[in-house]
Order: sequence, then C-alpha cells, then structure tokens
Amino acid sequence: MGKNIIEVKGVTKQVRDATGVLTILHEIEFSLAERESVAIVGASGSGKSTLLSILAGLDLPTSGQVRLAGVDLFTLDEDARAAVRGERVGFVFQSFQLMGHLSALENVMLPLELRGDRQARRLATEMLQRVGLGERLGHYPRLLSGGEQQRVALARAFVLRPAVLFADEPTGSLDHATGEAVMQLMFDLNREVGTTLVLVTHDPAIASRCDRQIRIEAGRITADVAVRAPGGDAAAALAGGAATDAAADASAVAATAAAA
Ligand SMILES: Nc1ncnc2c1ncn2[C@@H]1O[C@H](COP(=O)(O)OP(=O)(O)O)[C@@H](O)[C@H]1O
Ligand SMILES: [Mg+2]
Repeated sequence: MGKNIIEVKGVTKQVRDATGVLTILHEIEFSLAERESVAIVGASGSGKSTLLSILAGLDLPTSGQVRLAGVDLFTLDEDARAAVRGERVGFVFQSFQLMGHLSALENVMLPLELRGDRQARRLATEMLQRVGLGERLGHYPRLLSGGEQQRVALARAFVLRPAVLFADEPTGSLDHATGEAVMQLMFDLNREVGTTLVLVTHDPAIASRCDRQIRIEAGRITADVAVRAPGGDAAAALAGGAATDAAADASAVAATAAAA
C-alpha cells in the first residue's frame, strides 16, 4: 500500500446556537492510503457531510488537524486552501451542481480553464466521451436526464485527475438502475485515474464495494474496517481477521449486506 494521502487527527466540530454548544464531530481520527476507496456510512444527521466538508478544507474544524497530500490544511488561509483543492480534489454531490447556463462541454472545461489549461476543450471532450456523453457535448443540464447530469459531474471531477474524489451520496437522487451505472463508472474512473475515493452513502451494497467502511454515529467513529484488500476481493480481507470488536461487528454487517 502507498503512502497516506489523507491524515485526520482529533477533528472536533462544534456549533453554537441560542441553546448552547452542539458537538457535531468528536475527535475523529483516521488515515487513507493513496488509491484507497472508503465508504463513510451512518444515519442521517450523524455528521457525514460535515466531515467531508472538513476533509476537503471547505469547512473549518473547531480543533484538530487534516493533512491532505502532505499539506496541513488548517494552517493555510482560505485562498491557499482553495489552491490545494483546485490541484488535488474533485467533488460529486447528490444534487449534481452543474452550471445551468453552461453546456456539458463548458461545464467540464471550466475547472481546466480556471487553472489555465490550454488543452481544456480537447481534454473535456475526451472525458465526456469516456463517460458516454460524446453525443451530448452541447446540451445544457436541463436537457439531460439525472443520470446524464451526474455523468457530466463525474467528467468535471475526474478531468483534473484529482488525488482525492469526495462524493456525498452521489446516487441519492437517481433511480436504482441509473445509480448502479453511475457507481460503476465512478469505480472505473477511480481505478483508471488512481484517485483516492471518499464516498458517503446510505446504500450497504455500494459501501461493500469500497476497500473500507467507516461508520459514524452521532459524530463519532464506531467502526472502521477493511472490507476488501485495496484492489483485491472481500473474502481475502475478511479472512485476514478483524483487529477490533468494532471491526468484527462491521465485518459481520458487510458480510450480511453482501449476502442479501
Ligand atoms: N452549521 C450548522 N449549524 C448547526 N447545526 C449543524 C450545522 N451543520 C450541520 N449541523 C447539524 O449537525 C449534524 C450533522 O449534519 P450532517 O453532517 O449534515 O449529517 P449527515 O450528512 O450525516 O446527514 C446534524 O444534526 C445537523 O443538523
Ligand atoms: Mg449529508
């Protein structure tokens, strides 16, 4: 396994309102290796989206540290963090978040143009062909189906060849079959580009396709278990034995999900 691309230490997030202080994340710690795929699972409201935003440097923790590609994110100012994101990070959201006034091609060109890439048109066209939208380059988002819009969003994220892709319930607004196709494409691109994938999902079948699952309950990690050896199969990882009780529980959950 390669070196760590993400290292999270003691990340706590609190928000203050009229009734007092609410702790959304408690002392979160874990590391992710290059190319690893991890599913972040847990009930709605458990803190998954907040954690993803902090890992990407979009939100600030109250305390704790995140190193992304060796850079200590919260020692940087907002502009420097944005520069790290632009270089290293791709995003895919449940709501696609395409620019409605730009065509599919222009949406995918945008991040390349923002970093001054003179091959933007060619690279964006190739990536849209890769996701099966070569015939839709000039379409505006409103003329595309949900699955097509999410494929444009995947093309926009992967065209930068990011070190890390953060995906927050990317199939949450798609029907099952369309969601399956989008997930397959995401796992394929992840392998081709060599990206580390951090995927928030409610779907145990999708989670079990990741190398690893981290479960969050009420802002705490309650299980962190390798489901598969990176690039390998689930049985090999499970046969390797679970290190902790929490890991054993999550292995059982994963095995049950796989059998269902
Ligand atoms: N800025 C905020 N102010 C107050 N509460 C927040 C804020 N952001 C998130 N929360 C609360 O923190 C908890 C975790 O939210 P979130 O990270 O969106 O959970 P998840 O993505 O797992 O559904 C929820 O109870 C939510 O209401
Ligand atoms: Mg969420």
